[in-house]
Amino acid sequence: MTALSDAATDLQLIRTATVTDASFDTRLDAQFPRLHGIFQELYGDRADAAEQLAAVVQEAAASWRRRSLELKARDAQRAADPDWFQSESMLGGVCYVDRFAGDLDGVRAQIPYFQELGLTYLHLMPLFDAPEGDNDGGYAVSSYRRVSPALGSMEELAALAADLRLAGISLVLDFIFNHTSNEHEWARKAVAGDPDFEDFYLIFPDRTMPDAYEQTVREIFPDDHPGSFVQLDDGRWIWATFYHFQWDLNYANPAVFRAMAGEMIFLANQGVEILRMDAVAFIWKRLGTTCESLPEAHLLLQAFNAVLDLAAPSMLFKSEAIVHPDEVVSYISRDECELSYNPLQMALTWEALATRDPRLLQQALERRHALPAGTAWVNYVRSHDDIGWTFADEDAAELGIDGYAHRRFLNDFYVNRVEGSFSRGATFQENPRTGDARVAGTTASLAGVEAGDAGGEDRVVLAHAIALSTGGIPLLYLGDEVGQLNDDGYLDDPHHAHDSRWVHRGERPAEAYAARHDESTPAGRIHSRLTRVIATRKATPALGGNRLIGFDAGHPTVLGYQRPGVGSVVLVLANVGDDPADIDALTLSGFDAAATDLVTAEPVDLAAGLTLPAHGFVWLEVGPR
Ligand code: GLC
Repeated sequence: MTALSDAATDLQLIRTATVTDASFDTRLDAQFPRLHGIFQELYGDRADAAEQLAAVVQEAAASWRRRSLELKARDAQRAADPDWFQSESMLGGVCYVDRFAGDLDGVRAQIPYFQELGLTYLHLMPLFDAPEGDNDGGYAVSSYRRVSPALGSMEELAALAADLRLAGISLVLDFIFNHTSNEHEWARKAVAGDPDFEDFYLIFPDRTMPDAYEQTVREIFPDDHPGSFVQLDDGRWIWATFYHFQWDLNYANPAVFRAMAGEMIFLANQGVEILRMDAVAFIWKRLGTTCESLPEAHLLLQAFNAVLDLAAPSMLFKSEAIVHPDEVVSYISRDECELSYNPLQMALTWEALATRDPRLLQQALERRHALPAGTAWVNYVRSHDDIGWTFADEDAAELGIDGYAHRRFLNDFYVNRVEGSFSRGATFQENPRTGDARVAGTTASLAGVEAGDAGGEDRVVLAHAIALSTGGIPLLYLGDEVGQLNDDGYLDDPHHAHDSRWVHRGERPAEAYAARHDESTPAGRIHSRLTRVIATRKATPALGGNRLIGFDAGHPTVLGYQRPGVGSVVLVLANVGDDPADIDALTLSGFDAAATDLVTAEPVDLAAGLTLPAHGFVWLEVGPR
């Protein structure tokens, strides 16, 4: 075993033992100092640090040698156009392989539909080998190199990635690297007492350390088990942030980093273009802290990013950090995650619809939307997960809103415990001890379609019109474009009944899809309105990128912002209220009076002011006066 030396010496040693080519060498020169520095910081006192670092680089070099010419061509193409994901033509979709399409072949059969919809990005929910029965929707991975046999094989996945690429669609997969399932080979070896693998997880002989950690660590899945540890059959305790069968990896061990970096670059060579970095906030633990978003978590992501640059330079990371907004942005940079979910905008869109008050969303757009160059938000209305009200209490306080009480209201509103609620959601992980809870439900059910509320369909379209006009990559939860409703069927499935998120994870609603061109149905109306908005976004360069400037619409229920383009601006006005909203001419007088409604392509005379229908919006192309 060798400890680290200085970067130049270590690099030289690695080079002599590694077969590389000129392009790898160039990237190695650029990345090695960074990678070495991170290893120094995280693993400087470990005797095996140098050996593990050398193994990482050698594995990256071998992976690069094995990378197909087609994927290397893609690397070159992306290098020539590094901002490709900022384009107005980007549109993401997400679905479960089994629920939406049966298996990987079924996904292939849906490619014509994905093209009809205009997708350029397809996130397939976790499809790896996982325990039978409950596996947290695939988020408990037993092997990163094996596709769940019910869905297909790794060869089929690579072939599908290639077909998607030909169709102009980038494959996005999860990288579930905070934990493995308890059936992963590493986990089995750890339980069997193999010392190399015991150190892959955080295992303690008794409650002393777990109790000490739990002083400061929050409970994530309290319905499953209290705290963050579960007991093994032999009486020891193991760290499990999420479900009891998802065991957190011990990244303080450099062998864990090496092993997971190997799994990551294996996936890169299957043709995955974007990795959704699952649960990034939790990957590093330190006693006496919340064990969330620690500085070391960032270093680890940077190290993974550096390895990626060596082995699969065009691949991107998307951060999944559903935490305080200050923490969410801390993961977004070219060196860390180029993309990130925008959970704040998502949650505040729902907040504004419930309260009919857009101020918190307006404030977030004005204050928390900007990002470093070369990075982008993934803006969405719903995901496979619950909605957590992750706004900052201090932001709310500025508007006279008490965060705690407001979250309680929103939870009650969305699960229909408030008189007059239009929503039919379900509570998720309601914690009586802390009063914390989150909400599950499909877009249509939360927006009022299920309840038969007159504004339901409008709200579905309005929420998407916001996500589609705030830049970055808009992401559709497939099924939402045909108004998929909640499905209570999960309650009859013993593996799902305890997890209300399954209420919005129904099977592909075949009937709704069949009716998508029939405007006498809700599916048809929602689909026709949404696809029109999608087509408009794709034809409007100013809606790509990330630049956004607030606009004070001077009306209590109207959200306003501008997306500056070349020579003109897109002015977005969105009415979250239940009544029509008049915007007077004076408010709009900063713009040339001759505007165009981009969605209808009709001229609009701003000198006359304008009226937004209840739950209505406009995307106006306006010029300077
Ligand atoms: C992420 C996933 C969620 C899963 C959790 C544990 O938050 O989105 O569905 O339960 O990670 O892997």
